[in-house]
Amino acid sequence: MTDTGKYTMNLICIGAGYVGGPTMAMIAAKCPQYKVTVVDINAERIAAWNSEKLPIYEPGLYDVVKIARGRNLFFSTAIADAINEADVIFVSVNTPTKTFGEGAGRAADLQYWEKTARDIIKASTSDKIIVEKSTLPVRTAHAMERILNANDKGIHFEVLSNPEFLAEGTAIEDLKAPDRVLIGSQLTESGLAARNKLVEIYANWVSRDRILTSNVWSAELSKLVANAFLAQRISSINSISMLCECTEASVSEVAKAIGMDNRIGSRFLNASVGFGGSCFKKDILNLVYICESYGLTEVASYWENVVLMNEYQKKRFVKNMIRVMFNTIAGKRIALFGFAFKADTGDTRESPAIDIAKQLVDEHAKVVITDPEAIDNAAKDLQGCLNFVTFDTDPYSAAKGAHAIAIMTEWKCYKDLDYERIYKTMEKPAFIFDGRNILDHKKLYETGFNVYPLGKECWKHF
Ligand code: NAD
Ligand code: UGA
Repeated sequence: MTDTGKYTMNLICIGAGYVGGPTMAMIAAKCPQYKVTVVDINAERIAAWNSEKLPIYEPGLYDVVKIARGRNLFFSTAIADAINEADVIFVSVNTPTKTFGEGAGRAADLQYWEKTARDIIKASTSDKIIVEKSTLPVRTAHAMERILNANDKGIHFEVLSNPEFLAEGTAIEDLKAPDRVLIGSQLTESGLAARNKLVEIYANWVSRDRILTSNVWSAELSKLVANAFLAQRISSINSISMLCECTEASVSEVAKAIGMDNRIGSRFLNASVGFGGSCFKKDILNLVYICESYGLTEVASYWENVVLMNEYQKKRFVKNMIRVMFNTIAGKRIALFGFAFKADTGDTRESPAIDIAKQLVDEHAKVVITDPEAIDNAAKDLQGCLNFVTFDTDPYSAAKGAHAIAIMTEWKCYKDLDYERIYKTMEKPAFIFDGRNILDHKKLYETGFNVYPLGKECWKHF
């Protein structure tokens, strides 16, 4: 028993971001017997976790937080105290792509991760289980164990890999009923004991047949590979969207036809302006870097093409806009509907809308951005080009006087707008570029729009 006997175990998480916050809130909500503390160096973020306006937008998150906060879920900046008290330490700090030195632009920047290891050594006075929640290069646990167990206090640290597979926008459902929970450990006595302890934590609400155990390297690598495979499907269908446009095939029909084959499956086959999010690109580039470092040049270039195809899809989207809008968009108002990297999140990290907006600004278009949740982040992302960019929370006024609308995010609210009303207020000819294929293209055409979907025939009046 820890903490005056009130709780049976003390779990902490270092890193109160998109993963640390929701994951630990779910554990706390499902397991009132554990004390769960989420710590971060960012005091503002911690204050927001303790408030009614959480630092991230995620459907259903607040309800889960409310169940446990103050009961057995705590958010704090007292990192050393939390480490000292902990039995199990989840680490979910950011692991972005390195921007400097060896491996810049590809390798994972492990400085935040290593800093936590040093904090853990400094503050610990007893043995602990360390759980890698962050996405890390395969064999990081090896380095981690070396750093941690080089301590001169005689403390033993057992490092487990427990990568997180939640997707933003559906994080709560994903955490409540995960496809699988993956736990990798060393196959030593202490490794297996630690692994069992973590299995027992998840078994409070996840059925045991969905809790998968493996060696620690397989767990680390599986996370990178899962993201690479998911992104690869999107790049594959996006590549086919280009061929569809040349051949009068429809990418939605092709996706449906191939997706009904059980061996292929129907998910992650929506053609789009490009995948975004903080992880796909970074994790694939990391995979590429690792392959290169083992001399696997062909494997590296195979996976790198998934990212290159994604970059190409974003470029081609804008090129097409310029071409159909009479080869110039200078001075034209263009409304971007959506800025988040996907619907149901305010997160804009690596959002395709960032690149699209910047390319439009390079062409001297007047860009107006609307989004239900991501306007604040959009303003930060586009700081360098604010002379050409404005923001408007109302899509109707964003479109007023615009020459074109481009759908960037598949927010449901954009499907339900009154496009007849919008059409009346726009410059003519009015264009819609549907970067997510979510609108009723025929109906828009009948309203008067010239409509350019992805990977299917366009509907134009001239
Ligand atoms: P994030 O940037 O939202 O959160 C990371 C947090 O760690 C930040 O609040 C930062 O202040 C904190 N931090 C950094 N160094 C610290 C330190 N030394 N001590 C205490 N706090 C520290 O990142 P995220 O999106 O939650 O991602 C975290 C990890 O999880 C990454 O490795 C990512 O690849 C992985 N992941 C993310 C998602 C996702 O949907 N965002 C899903 C699965 C896995
Ligand atoms: C993704 C994975 O789905 C998670 O399993 C993983 O845990 C997470 O990355 C991570 O490691 O960070 P996430 O990036 O939150 O989750 O969102 P996704 O639903 O995967 O979407 C990623 C991007 O692909 C979005 O821009 C989305 O719009 C795009 N996408 C998705 C498509 O363009 N087409 C599709 O068919 C599906």
